[in-house]
Amino acid sequence: MTATHDSPTAAGSGDSATKAFRASRGSASAGPTVSQERVSEVVTDLLAGIHSTIRSKKVTYDEFQAAKQYLIDVGEGGEWPLFLDVFVEHVVEDVAAEAQDGTKGSILGPYYLPGQVRIDTPATLPKRPDEQGTALLFAGQVRDTAGNPLPGAELDIWQADDEGYYSGFAPHLPDGNLRGVVVADAEGKFEIHTIEPAAYQIPTDGPTGALIEAAGWHPWRPAHLHLMVRAPEHRTITTQLYFRGGEWLDSDVASATKSELILDPVDNGDGTHSVTYDFTLEPA
Ligand code: DHB
Ligand code: FE
Repeated sequence: MTATHDSPTAAGSGDSATKAFRASRGSASAGPTVSQERVSEVVTDLLAGIHSTIRSKKVTYDEFQAAKQYLIDVGEGGEWPLFLDVFVEHVVEDVAAEAQDGTKGSILGPYYLPGQVRIDTPATLPKRPDEQGTALLFAGQVRDTAGNPLPGAELDIWQADDEGYYSGFAPHLPDGNLRGVVVADAEGKFEIHTIEPAAYQIPTDGPTGALIEAAGWHPWRPAHLHLMVRAPEHRTITTQLYFRGGEWLDSDVASATKSELILDPVDNGDGTHSVTYDFTLEPA
């Protein structure tokens, strides 16, 4: 990668991700909607897991204090959305998927921004005049679980650029770059012109990166497109699509890949790529 600009910092990305998360919650707070019984049963089990690790690994006072410092640093760095979406969300998604038919879901991640430009199919995602990366035509159809086309379907799509950066979080990118809500046609069909994203490296200069380095892991996610696919009276699917042969597919730091979600683009002979992928939504 040639750096022609300052890379976004972990603190900057973390701060923006925290703000976006707060905005997505509106004025909601966990308190009134979660029963005392539920809080007690979940938190008791969670703490039991921590207690059990301390006993089985014979965690020392020094390690406990280091952990305390670490958790304080994650909070001060605004990295909780990054940390939780990388290390925890995939299991929440697995549990949600147990009760879901249709296209497989995957994690939302920290970089969704609502309210992007709506574009009728055939759509070209907003991009810079000199946007780098292999041109990709991504087409398909949204249907219900009985195979009927879903008119009025929308594909809310967001992705990293050819350097692995997300608009709205990397300061050098224009707002809304490579983001849009694509409105499918009367048969639920869509065509989206975009570019193939690069693999994404979670910010390494903050506490999440420090943990990854301290543990000898790597900070990479395979290249992916994020999608929220909606249609009236159907359950919205939040998912990600990956690219066959992409690096890190088998060792995603966020453990969010699924074999059903891998695209197989073909080369059109002129260096551009095309791929089709159909979505199935279950009734709401
Ligand atoms: C993170 C970033 C992503 O693009 C993603 O899809 C999941 C997690 C992160 O930095 O936490
Ligand atoms: Fe992502």
